[in-house]
Amino acid sequence: MDIKPFFAPEYYITDEFTIRSYMLGDGPLLAEAVNASYEHLKRFMPWAKPHTEDIEAENTIRRWRGEYLLATNFTLGVFDPDGKRLLGSSGFHLREGDLNNRAAEIGMWIRADAAHKGLGSRVLRAILTWGFTAWPWERLTWRCNEENIASRRTAEKAGMRLEGRFRAVTRLPDGTRETMLAFAILKDEWEMGNR
Ligand SMILES: CC(C)(COP(=O)(O)OP(=O)(O)OC[C@H]1O[C@@H](n2cnc3c(N)ncnc32)[C@H](O)[C@@H]1OP(=O)(O)O)[C@@H](O)C(=O)NCCC(=O)NCCS
Repeated sequence: MDIKPFFAPEYYITDEFTIRSYMLGDGPLLAEAVNASYEHLKRFMPWAKPHTEDIEAENTIRRWRGEYLLATNFTLGVFDPDGKRLLGSSGFHLREGDLNNRAAEIGMWIRADAAHKGLGSRVLRAILTWGFTAWPWERLTWRCNEENIASRRTAEKAGMRLEGRFRAVTRLPDGTRETMLAFAILKDEWEMGNR
């Protein structure tokens, strides 16, 4: 059955953070967070660069907002409760087919000064709860570099299962090739674990 039209959910609110679509005007918050996190992001986030201008980030979030409204890709910001600071970024990305396939890949980064304190694990649990209750997802996936221990542990702790290991799947700018791990959780597995 076609999901048409699809009006994506906009907000998921907890006491610690709000997960929502990026909105017009969020560009400077995104630029501040990535600029403060370059050293932390550069190892595993190929898009990371030393400095991003506010206007460039604003252009990016406008594209993300457009994709969100068109239901082609759902990039999400993780904001502190008063909305003044971006704690990280996530999203439901349609990498296993279009919306009718009801499967999405979750991406995530947490800003440097908030990382390694349990926040990524709490955000992923929130994303799974939101994803399996308010969104049409029947399968949610997570991919990470085999050497990215924090990412791998974040997925495992949230109950995602390792499904595969793809050797030398991606070529990095320095010419080396990275091995990726693929994790997934199905809606019925998530429901069983949250009864
Ligand atoms: C991966 C990331 C999103 C995880 O979020 P986080 O808030 O740092 O994760 P948490 O603090 O919830 O930690 C999750 C697990 O990873 C472990 N971990 C965290 N940082 C670690 C590190 N630097 N080295 C080894 N393990 C680490 C934690 O100990 C925890 O496992 P445990 O409970 O068994 O001890 C975050 O570290 C990040 O943004 N990294 C850079 C970008 C990135 O790699 N994104 C993922 C791409 S797939």
